Amino acid sequence: MITIHTVSELRQLVSAAKAAGKTVGFVPTMGNLHAGHISLINQATANTDFVVSSIFVNPLQFNDKSDLDRYPRTLDADQEQLSAAKCHVLFAPDVDEMYPDGQQSQTIVQVPVVSEGLCGASRLGHFDGVATVVSKLFNMVQPDVAFFGQKDFQQVAVIRKMAADLNLPISIVSVPTMRAADGLALSSRNGYLSEQELKIATGLYKTLNELAAELQQGLEISISVKNATQNLNALGFRTDYIEVRRSQDLKPATAKDQHLVVVAAAFLGGARLIDNIELSLKPSDE
Ligand code: PAJ
Repeated sequence: MITIHTVSELRQLVSAAKAAGKTVGFVPTMGNLHAGHISLINQATANTDFVVSSIFVNPLQFNDKSDLDRYPRTLDADQEQLSAAKCHVLFAPDVDEMYPDGQQSQTIVQVPVVSEGLCGASRLGHFDGVATVVSKLFNMVQPDVAFFGQKDFQQVAVIRKMAADLNLPISIVSVPTMRAADGLALSSRNGYLSEQELKIATGLYKTLNELAAELQQGLEISISVKNATQNLNALGFRTDYIEVRRSQDLKPATAKDQHLVVVAAAFLGGARLIDNIELSLKPSDE
């Protein structure tokens, strides 16, 4: 694997791969890689010929400066993992390479409606930052296929809408969430948790499963959400949101909808954890 830091080197490498008839896969990340990220690389190597990954801790998507400052930067270990996973190119630009004229005068890509609510409500401007950096990275890499984790369900929905609205010739693939044996979704932010908090953290996915089971049994959405919120708070979380949405477009679910996603964010110790679970309700007998 080759690590590069500039857009011009990136363009040369990708042009050469395309000239050789290769399809290009892309996995954008902020580094501090774990098995969840590597599962995206594995999907990319299985489905495309030339795999580019990026590591860039994007200041534009952090609404909280202290969150940005403490975000773990572990380039050497990340390079080893990407290389072992047979990634071809790591693009690791610095802030000046990505935002040469500064962040204030950067053109912003805003994806309305789907960016609003859920994480968009508690992290104002977050999805503008994500959509902006991902569209820049898409234009730099020009991939055929880009891979995103289903763990960040709203993020994938934002990227899909952006790609459709801007007519980007890029397939967006969503990869299932990689979990620890106890069900906890792998996340760079799990590193902020103590041993004891890590045990409590497993309660988030358990609670989402319980909520999904209640919906399958026909319990009303508002009642199951109330139960789940009480459950999380009793475990020691501070619930940011738990909502049931339509999985296809993230619009609020009604009693008629069958294909649903339960999405949640909750604070625990020094971390804000997110998770989700998709479910399909059996059609009611008519
Ligand atoms: P980051 O949090 O580093 O995540 C990079 C990619 O890995 C995302 O698509 C995310 O959904 C995926 N991912 C994280 N944890 C996962 C898990 N447990 N299982 C499967 N996939 C997982 O998301 C970002 O970076 C940034 O917002 C980015 C898209 C790079 C734009 O800056």
